[in-house]
Amino acid sequence: MDRIAITGGAQLNGVIPVSGAKNSAIKLMAASLLTDEPLRLTNMPRLADTRFLGKLLTRLGVSVTESDGPDGQQTILHAPEITSGFAPYDLVRQMRASFNVLGPLVARSGQAKVSLPGGCTIGARPVDLHLQALEALGAKIDLHEGYVYAQAPRGLKGAEIVFPIVSVGATEHAMLAAVLADGVTVIRNAACEPELVDLQECLNAMGAKVEGAGTPTVTITGVARLKGATHSVIPDRIEMGTYAVAAAMAGGEVRLTKARPELIESLSVKLEEAGATVVRTEDGVIVKRNGSRLNAVDLETAPFPGFATDLQAQFMALMTTANGESRIRETIFENRFMHAPELMRLGADISVHGGEARVRGVEQLEGAEVMATDLRASVSLVIAGLVARGETVVSRIYHLDRGFERLEEKLGACGAQVRRIKGDGEPEL
Ligand code: EPZ
Repeated sequence: MDRIAITGGAQLNGVIPVSGAKNSAIKLMAASLLTDEPLRLTNMPRLADTRFLGKLLTRLGVSVTESDGPDGQQTILHAPEITSGFAPYDLVRQMRASFNVLGPLVARSGQAKVSLPGGCTIGARPVDLHLQALEALGAKIDLHEGYVYAQAPRGLKGAEIVFPIVSVGATEHAMLAAVLADGVTVIRNAACEPELVDLQECLNAMGAKVEGAGTPTVTITGVARLKGATHSVIPDRIEMGTYAVAAAMAGGEVRLTKARPELIESLSVKLEEAGATVVRTEDGVIVKRNGSRLNAVDLETAPFPGFATDLQAQFMALMTTANGESRIRETIFENRFMHAPELMRLGADISVHGGEARVRGVEQLEGAEVMATDLRASVSLVIAGLVARGETVVSRIYHLDRGFERLEEKLGACGAQVRRIKGDGEPEL
């Protein structure tokens, strides 16, 4: 399997264009199941996760065509009819978001059999709220042998859905199902992440009537059918935030473009508190740091507009060389400090107590061999490698390929010494 080698010490200077958001793209792709007309998604990232979902959608009857269109990378998804309502374990297990095909399948064809996704390295991640939403919309849900059987032969019915906790995936799932329901659906305690607003815009372009996304109450007036549309995927705020942290870590000056500054405001504030300079521009941010050492700052992850859990590992990497002690509290997932022991292999001084990590900044990290455990953890190791003395080699980077488009190229263009070492095909133990 491939690995990534980083030789630390180079500053980053240059421009990085931000790609379309993975976590939005995969929900928008699932929306193609809701119409028999083509859905054209532009600003599409080319990632293992989008390819992977494309494979599942193809099995369900969607033709998925990737190409370079007039406005850049695009994917056209077309489901004249649903040829199968079955999403097998093999495909759902590898990517949890595949589970989100359940709602659109039931909404369009009245039935589906979709595997339960199972746990993952960052936490148990149940899907009870997804099922609660579909049941509220009138679907009959049965669980057998690891599969969800959902039926709504006479269609879904609008309902009030009150989520006990905020869930991005369950809010999206409820929206994807309710757009074709009969009547009005009100989702309360909805997630407010920008990807929800993106989904609302895409669904409305397809003829749906959704309002309120980005606030805790989303109202959906069901329509009988949806049509084809063209929609541009929102910029990836996690990719943007990752490179912002990388610039603060390595020093230099990096301009992030094709994005929006407000998508990472909670991170920008923390970067400034730590001593980096962040300039908000029309299409992104410029992050600068001169030679001086950053200060340790505390943070706590929270739903949007709070500090994103998907940027916690990267910020922890940044704090490993800051001046002082930083307390980092993870509140969204129960096991999202898997990067801490790997960062310690590079010489970081971190102790984890339940949901809180204490990071005492050291003067210098040392390159070592480390292992990626999940997508965001793996990029935190690359960030640490940017300043570690000597060479850092990150293995299991298939995690990285799930969510970062052309990472070596983007960092390399700014002067980072990053190269991919092609594997011999042997799996890593
Ligand atoms: C999305 O996951 C993202 N994934 C995650 O990014 C992100 O970390 C997370 O939102 C939070 O922002 C995608 O969009 C594909 P949740 P999701 O439902 O929707 C609990 C990445 O690296 N919960 O908001 O699965 C859950 O266990 C990934 O790109 C239930 O209890 O997150 C968690 O503790 C990692 N029951 C909390 O809610 C449910 O039915 C929030 O999870 C659903 C969730």
